[in-house]
Amino acid sequence: MLLGKNGKMTRDQIQLIHDTYAGKKVFLTGHTGFKGSWLLCWLRHLNAIVKGYSLNPDFENSLYTRIDGDARCQSVIADIRDTEKVREEILSFKPDFIFHLAAQPLVRYSYQEPVETFNTNIMGTVHVLDAVRYLNQDCSVILITTDKVYENQEWIYPYREHEPLGGFDPYSASKGACELIINSYRRSFFQSDSKDFEKAIASARAGNVIGGGDWASDRIIPDLVRAFSKHETLAIRNSFAVRPWQHVLDPLFGYLLLGAKMRLAPSRFSEAWNFGPYAEDSLTVRQLVELTQKYWQGEVVYMDEKNQPHEAGLLKLDINKAITKLGWYPHFSSEQSIQKTIEWYKAVIEVGEPAHVWVEKQILQYENQ
Ligand SMILES: NC(=O)c1ccc[n+]([C@@H]2O[C@H](COP(=O)([O-])OP(=O)(O)OC[C@H]3O[C@@H](n4cnc5c(N)ncnc54)[C@H](O)[C@@H]3O)[C@@H](O)[C@H]2O)c1
Repeated sequence: MLLGKNGKMTRDQIQLIHDTYAGKKVFLTGHTGFKGSWLLCWLRHLNAIVKGYSLNPDFENSLYTRIDGDARCQSVIADIRDTEKVREEILSFKPDFIFHLAAQPLVRYSYQEPVETFNTNIMGTVHVLDAVRYLNQDCSVILITTDKVYENQEWIYPYREHEPLGGFDPYSASKGACELIINSYRRSFFQSDSKDFEKAIASARAGNVIGGGDWASDRIIPDLVRAFSKHETLAIRNSFAVRPWQHVLDPLFGYLLLGAKMRLAPSRFSEAWNFGPYAEDSLTVRQLVELTQKYWQGEVVYMDEKNQPHEAGLLKLDINKAITKLGWYPHFSSEQSIQKTIEWYKAVIEVGEPAHVWVEKQILQYENQ
């Protein structure tokens, strides 16, 4: 049984997501990625029927390949920038739910490829929302943006959902733009009282997500895991940057719970939601590294050199809205998130246990604690 900070039990919420998604059709973009692979496993565990839409996995040993994702869903390998294809695949599937995760998600890569980043993130979101206009049935749509959508003031206060959007680097700006587009589509096409079908549209802004099976470059946990498993020393940049780190299962549970509530009361929940750790549990990069070293010994060297592409220094999320209106709580502290993540990588890399076993095991543990 899950316990929130105030001892609030969430057994009912676990039951709710099982009842909501069993037998329902879910269109999942980004299903071949890190978070998408975890969400695919959880949705199948809930007995949902899943159609995925993404590019091929980026890595030979991707989490999607390791969990045999093709056997878990109808997998469409196609580009989210293809307007007609996105529409065709959504309309032919007739989904009850859409989770839109497909994106170019890396800040540093977005400096190298800003056009690709803006095209994929902005037009991908437009294509999904536009297809929903033509869907002749009810549908709940959860679009995944990020904690980086806010105009970062470099202040100590956690950002709330109504605060100004912004974004310095192309990735953050692209996701901030997605939020404006989501709001525009919601108000322009999906809120009229005269509409025939209920289209519930929400965005989810998660913090920095960690968990087993992420192999992306320029992300701190995969970089540490690669270095420590080969007994190499890792150079750490931006060690003073503060981020809301969280285990992948916490925001995914938030997305699933949000989808379930949108089904029950579309107008009440069709808005933007932050999902992150408690603000006081945000860590600097250095604290994250030191906690990781507690569970996997390895060498690092701190190199806070100048002339790096700009990245936000101080970023915290206010999660009070999700707590009070959704009844969602972060289940893991930052340290527990790191512990669970390293437990996963050690079992899979060092002991050689199958990745899918560990994904399923951690989902079950999450539901049953
Ligand atoms: N990982 C994090 O820390 C984090 C934090 C906040 C928000 N997010 C958001 O969550 C989502 C998933 O992130 P992730 O960490 O799993 O990333 P990932 O790189 O592991 O997965 C990205 C997915 O998007 C797909 N994709 C990329 N470009 C595409 C295109 N042109 N057409 C079709 N599919 C395309 C990829 O094939 C892959 O399935 C993204 O929207 C990201 O911005 C991630």
